[in-house]
Amino acid sequence: MANFINPALTISPDKISSEKISWQTPSNIAIIKYWGKHGRQLPRNPSISFTLNNAFTKTELTYQSKQSKSDALNLDFYFEGKSNPAFGAKSKKFLESITDIFPFINQMDFTIQTDNSFPHSSGIASSASGMAAIALCLCTIERNLFGTLKDENEFRQKASYVARLGSGSACRSVYPTMAIWGQTAAHEMASDEYAVPFIEKLHPVFKTYHDSILIASRGEKKVSSTAGHALMDGNIFAQNRYDQANQRFNDLLDILKAGDLDAFGKIAENEALTLHALMMTADASYILMRPATLSLIEKVQNYRADTKQPLYFTLDAGPNLHLLYPDEIRKDVKPFIEQELVPLCENGEWIDDCVGGGPEERSSFDV
Ligand code: DP6
Repeated sequence: MANFINPALTISPDKISSEKISWQTPSNIAIIKYWGKHGRQLPRNPSISFTLNNAFTKTELTYQSKQSKSDALNLDFYFEGKSNPAFGAKSKKFLESITDIFPFINQMDFTIQTDNSFPHSSGIASSASGMAAIALCLCTIERNLFGTLKDENEFRQKASYVARLGSGSACRSVYPTMAIWGQTAAHEMASDEYAVPFIEKLHPVFKTYHDSILIASRGEKKVSSTAGHALMDGNIFAQNRYDQANQRFNDLLDILKAGDLDAFGKIAENEALTLHALMMTADASYILMRPATLSLIEKVQNYRADTKQPLYFTLDAGPNLHLLYPDEIRKDVKPFIEQELVPLCENGEWIDDCVGGGPEERSSFDV
């Protein structure tokens, strides 16, 4: 077990000046899905995702020495330039839950300003990029004030561990290209406690992948992912699902090394449909796909049958379709999206994304 609890990370108040830390942190899209958890945010099965490029959160965290005598944590939270009590309460709870890892949190007042590159309530989850960004900011404070985490691997591993405590899938957003989270016999470095990068053995074709996100519906989700995970505990298919995810994970790792695009796509699509089947078979059951989701799926499957091109989809815990394809077929897929798929999207909206280089520390943003 990794042990990141460190009571020594406190500092004399006069050494705390007011500083601002900024990170731009991407979202990610899972191919093998994390769905079901236990304990303190531990996954029931291994998962693997692409780190995205254009869907990201910009986060500026400012800290200063704690002004009031009260023990309560003082956090001002702004989303898109406006005070946001709902997101603020979630972030405050997260900071309060990790004072054993970063005791200096109790010695500071914080302001967080955050902004997403993707439209608010476009159905793209911001918790992965948002929580990963806060984790990276905190690790940066630790490195700057205590001289620890100088080693880049150590820094990322701790950031991933902390991000996981904020939102499970966030731990994978700390790395570029692809990341694995969850113990598996297929990868000896993989852990339930933090994600690890999967890049060196990845076939180069996957580094050229696009994720074109088709907005089938912008609406708020009826059931949050956290509630969805909890429903797995009573789902009669749960154990079979975890066995299946483990088996598929082993198969997928070989496929990712070999560059077999159809084998990859077949697993990606089945994982998406399995995720939604688990929601539909939960007690109480629910459906997050919308009529437009099914129309889009049909179009994509017909396109593939007609062209034999490796265009596949996945879904997150929501109605929007993520189209996955290599750059070599982009010249054909883009006009297909624009002509055939965009008319089915809500307000014709889609997000043109691709595999990205991971989070970046910035000197500042205009958030
Ligand atoms: C369907 O990470 O959002 O996107 O850990 O409760 O915050 P919490 O859940 P979250 O679940 C995401 C599940 C998923 C699949 C995945 O990203 O692996």
